[in-house]
Amino acid sequence: MTQTLTLIRPDDWHLHLRDGAMLQAVLPETTRHFARAIVMPNLVPPVVTMADAEAYKARIAAATPQGADFTPLMTLYLTENTDPDDLAKAYASGLISAVKLYPAGATTNSASGVADFDKVRPVLERMAEIGCPLCVHGEVTDRDIDIFDREAVFIDRVLDPIRKSVPELKVVMEHITTKNGVDYVKANPERLGATITVQHLMLDRNDMLVGGMRPHYYCLPILKRREHREALVSAATSGDSRFFLGTDSAPHPTHAKEAECCAAGCFTAPVALACLAHTFEEANALDKLEGFTSLHGPAFYGLPANQDTLTLTKSDEAVVFPKDVRTAEATVTVFDPGFPVFWSVPT
Ligand code: DOR
Ligand code: ZN
Repeated sequence: MTQTLTLIRPDDWHLHLRDGAMLQAVLPETTRHFARAIVMPNLVPPVVTMADAEAYKARIAAATPQGADFTPLMTLYLTENTDPDDLAKAYASGLISAVKLYPAGATTNSASGVADFDKVRPVLERMAEIGCPLCVHGEVTDRDIDIFDREAVFIDRVLDPIRKSVPELKVVMEHITTKNGVDYVKANPERLGATITVQHLMLDRNDMLVGGMRPHYYCLPILKRREHREALVSAATSGDSRFFLGTDSAPHPTHAKEAECCAAGCFTAPVALACLAHTFEEANALDKLEGFTSLHGPAFYGLPANQDTLTLTKSDEAVVFPKDVRTAEATVTVFDPGFPVFWSVPT
């Protein structure tokens, strides 16, 4: 018996599309399922000005498959030199939907990020004034803070002080990975939302480390212990509109993942919705999936939900997903949760 599940067409509120050959290869994997995506600006060099974002948006448009109905929602990469006027102009024109804060050195291509948070306060104040959301990579980078504690420490030392000093600023805690993150969102209902990834809902650090190290599960923030995963699943499946999908699908060539020093990121775009249907069904919450994938994000960003729909089917046999996607120069390994998934989006 085939079961089906029809959702208002989903959006992805945190996505890495890269550039060049990689953009060309991975973009169709998103446009096939998602109507809109918040596109991360951590290119090399990063997307820091309105002109950069315009040019990147044009490259994305050029790489979009013919006939696809897809709108990239652009972001700027916040630096200590960001010009508030340029940012405000980009936001007022509708070109950008948010600004991304990477603490310097926190993750892939974050070297131009923020080291001194006082230096960006005038920009944050301007963003609060114009209503432009700040998407935050919430990890401290101090060498003396254990990698598994970096999110919790960031909330106390950086995020909470920023929110208190610029209370009107709208903030998205990107890819939360801990119970601390869930609790912080719940305790602060005003102007605060959080995205959650597929891999953090499905896996914990044991899946990555027990019985051998699995580089394709290595991402930042790093997978945490099981109780954190459980807190994320209950937040995502609760129906609380402050939690929504941001896949953080982050493609790297397979050779860069299967390397002595493995790049951070899971390439989940092709399988994200199938994996989520699995996870929500396991939590007895299939009825909450549409809110998480298609309603809560637009509501937070002040956009209408999409008008069309997408249908998932569940079959009796485990679905065989493509192992990788090919770019002109390399392959990119597709995320595999390591157990059978019976849901898919028929092509
Ligand atoms: O795992 C990650 N990969 N986390 C990030 O924050 C960045 C991303 C990337 O760009 O590869
Ligand atoms: Zn990301």
